[in-house]
Amino acid sequence: MRRAEEVLPPDVFAYFAAGAGAERTLARQEQAWDDVLLRPRVLQDVSTTSPATQVLGQPVASPVLVAPTAAHRLAHPDGEVGVARAAKTAGSLLVLSMRASTRLEEVAAEAGPFWQQLYVLQDRGVTDEIARRAVDAGAKALVVTVDTPRVARKRAGFPAALPRTGIVEALDHRDVADPRLMQAADVGPRDLERLARAAGLPVVAKGVLTAEAARDCVAAGASAVIVSTHGGRQLDGVVPAPLALPEVADAVGADAEVYVDGGVRTGSHVLKALALGARAVLVGRPVIWALAADGSDGVRRLLDDLTSDVEESLALAGCPSCSDVGPDLVRR
Ligand SMILES: Cc1cc2nc3c(=O)[nH]c(=O)nc-3n(C[C@H](O)[C@H](O)[C@H](O)COP(=O)(O)O)c2cc1C
Repeated sequence: MRRAEEVLPPDVFAYFAAGAGAERTLARQEQAWDDVLLRPRVLQDVSTTSPATQVLGQPVASPVLVAPTAAHRLAHPDGEVGVARAAKTAGSLLVLSMRASTRLEEVAAEAGPFWQQLYVLQDRGVTDEIARRAVDAGAKALVVTVDTPRVARKRAGFPAALPRTGIVEALDHRDVADPRLMQAADVGPRDLERLARAAGLPVVAKGVLTAEAARDCVAAGASAVIVSTHGGRQLDGVVPAPLALPEVADAVGADAEVYVDGGVRTGSHVLKALALGARAVLVGRPVIWALAADGSDGVRRLLDDLTSDVEESLALAGCPSCSDVGPDLVRR
């Protein structure tokens, strides 16, 4: 992060770093993971350990996925294509933002397995069009962000280099000031149903913090939910991800997979996430900082380091694999 702050123009760094409101959620998100305490199992045979797992049936080298974040080319010329290559080499999975600064077809051509993130826009036709393009480009799932009926105000707005709009990639030949390209305030379960039906792909609902919301998403056909505070960028003062996770995991049971993001920074955090009911985690800002500092190579190193860290944490906790991590591994 320090290197990113040195190399990025101040308004660009502030855009990536900012949280919403008084930034209370942002300030506490890493601490919330630190506050969860592990109960390691000793006297287990961990001579062979593997952090590999599967998400929606897709094998991945570790339970660390790349969260959808906007406008990577503001961070580094390698942009989304660089991040896609890094994720592929590291055996991870990319969730590509609808606000990407590169056309999704260009990213898909270089990517390993990827999921397409969507906002439901006031003009639902544009959302559906991007979903169709993602399907054609080979996306394996659609990630519909449900915590953004509008974009929260932040201390740092859009940097000068970014079009002043809710979306970037989808703007080809469109008026950037058109309000129909902003997030729909009436995004609802019917959008999940419609997108799941139209795309014929699994739908993942991103930005769920309660059992009620999780149940609604699953009832609307979601195959997975992501417990997320949007990196502290939407409603400020919400329950931190590690505290929301067990409630959501209990609510969906075996009906859907559960992932989590927000402040996940270490192998120990990942282990705690698995113990609290997640199948995988996503990382947002660390990818942006690594990209800014060293392009695609930086992102690959970050993902490889996190995978090694997860592997070491599994071994030290007495778990040969991710599926050996259970609720008894954390103090409740
Ligand atoms: C600069 C920035 C842009 C983001 N853009 C999107 C986006 O386009 N779509 C989305 O669903 N989430 C977006 N997010 C939220 C991330 O997907 C993720 O939930 C969050 O960054 C995780 O927290 P972390 O940054 O602490 O790892 C963004 C986050 C940041 C920091």
